[in-house]
Amino acid sequence: MTLVAPSILSSDFSCLADETARIKAAGADWVHIDVMDGRFVPNLTFGAPVVKCLRKKTDMFFDCHLMVEQPENYVDAFAAAGADMIVIHTEATKHLHRVLEAIHGKGIKAGVALNPASPLCLVEEVLPYADMVLIMSVNPGFGGQKFIETSIDKIHRLKERIKQGGYKTLIEVDGGINKETGKAVREAGADVLVAGSYIFGSPDMKKAISYLR
Ligand code: DX5
Ligand code: ZN
Repeated sequence: MTLVAPSILSSDFSCLADETARIKAAGADWVHIDVMDGRFVPNLTFGAPVVKCLRKKTDMFFDCHLMVEQPENYVDAFAAAGADMIVIHTEATKHLHRVLEAIHGKGIKAGVALNPASPLCLVEEVLPYADMVLIMSVNPGFGGQKFIETSIDKIHRLKERIKQGGYKTLIEVDGGINKETGKAVREAGADVLVAGSYIFGSPDMKKAISYLR
């Protein structure tokens, strides 16, 4: 079954607890939390203190997507804040395997993300160590961008590789996901769909989530 993870990047930041309750009521599986440092991506969002406050308001699964340089410096803080999964970018660290294992050492799930221009071989060696691979289908940094079509073939190829190796790694897709692109990535093998502007911009959030599923 496909999981749906609304990105609160497109929510009203002045009332994150209410927004999280709203996506839960609409049937969301996870909360996708986009952390940006203004260095890895040209934008800033929130850090671990915000996650810590939100943790007190909901029991939902927190999928923390760290778009930050040297994510190894933030594993402790996000784990302590209540992340259920930390996803780091392969382009942002020199020691991917070490960071994934450090995340697991905190007793939570570890994922690795790939920018649109980054080849799959950058994550191939860590497939046995990653609970999830996040395929970015836009360049990270902003919500509301157009889906990059070549992501579909990339998902297909990753799915094949995961099957071949007999791994349990989930495939998450993030960026430009709506009813149409959602169907295409599901068919290509995506297990988790992230959507920000599509879900928060929809007049009927429940319907939007059910279309993605
Ligand atoms: C982009 C973020 C995404 C973003 C997706 O840098 O990683 O999670 O919120 O937004 P939409 O769904 O609007 O493309
Ligand atoms: Zn994201």
